[in-house]
Amino acid sequence: MPPEAPALDAILSEARAAIQHAATAQQLTEVRAGFLGRRGTLAAKLRNIGQLPPETRGAAGQAANEAKETIERLVEKRRRELEQAKLRHNLEERRMDVTLPGAAAARGHLHPVSRIEAEMCAFFNGLGYSVEDGPEVESDWNNFGALNFPDDHPARDLQDTFFVEGGERVLRTHTSPVQIRAMTRLEPPFRFIVPGRVYRHDHDPTHYPMFHQLEGFCVGADVSFGDLKGTLYAFARHLFGQQAKLRFRAHYFPFTEPSAEMDVRRGSGAWLEWGGCGMIHPTVLRNCEIDPSLWQGFAFGMALDRAAMIRFGIPNIQLLFEGDQRVLEQF
Ligand code: PHE
Repeated sequence: MPPEAPALDAILSEARAAIQHAATAQQLTEVRAGFLGRRGTLAAKLRNIGQLPPETRGAAGQAANEAKETIERLVEKRRRELEQAKLRHNLEERRMDVTLPGAAAARGHLHPVSRIEAEMCAFFNGLGYSVEDGPEVESDWNNFGALNFPDDHPARDLQDTFFVEGGERVLRTHTSPVQIRAMTRLEPPFRFIVPGRVYRHDHDPTHYPMFHQLEGFCVGADVSFGDLKGTLYAFARHLFGQQAKLRFRAHYFPFTEPSAEMDVRRGSGAWLEWGGCGMIHPTVLRNCEIDPSLWQGFAFGMALDRAAMIRFGIPNIQLLFEGDQRVLEQF
């Protein structure tokens, strides 16, 4: 037995254990260098071979080379194992669970006033009404003059007007100026609704400086007050249910004659003032170059916000416009 044979075996089993023990690629490289590097254990062994007697030299050299190859193979095998393990670990660690519910984005919803507005428009579209629009900053003529308010009429004050542009223009106090815009432009017969924002100098639990109205007007050869009442009854029942009741009280508006104020009551609840209405005044038609001997029509204007308040049971109009999420999320 050559004396170096057991030593080689010892080196091999030591190498085997160290290689298996290496836990990272870096450690493995260090282990390999420890055995096979220029200053490694096996290299020292190989250097000694030259001093052996010639008859044992060949076998010892071969054994040492085999040992070297064995170690290389073990290192390679371990390297692959470590790579596999790392890959498996990564897959495991970063696995995406496609069954997890996604992070839901916060979703908003329509404001109660917008909802009522959309519902109102849908109802009137069904009756053949189109939607008209107009600016919120209006001329005095469209907001008052053409609607038959005399220059010195106290109604201008009654509507608590906000004047802008040095009194040249007004924030429209009602949606009625859009009647003037549409009727000046178009030939009868026609029927329109106008949802929109209006402004009045007013602030208490049931009034707000900005609020919404829904204007409606219908002009034809034989449109009557009966048509007006029938339309508004159908409308109220659509919005508030079959039990809804309407009450018409004689009233005055410069732009309608006769005129009425309309109250609505849901079931056995209290009467609530809802809007104004009447037959379009002949002077208004004439101001829009429509011949009142050929055409007549009705008009109405109601508080859209109040409809939302009744519908959703909101006690204070300010709650609608303060933008408080805790309030708005309830609808
Ligand atoms: N414009 C009136 C108001 O705001 C309401 C109204 C509209 C009355 C149409 C009659 C006809 O008070």
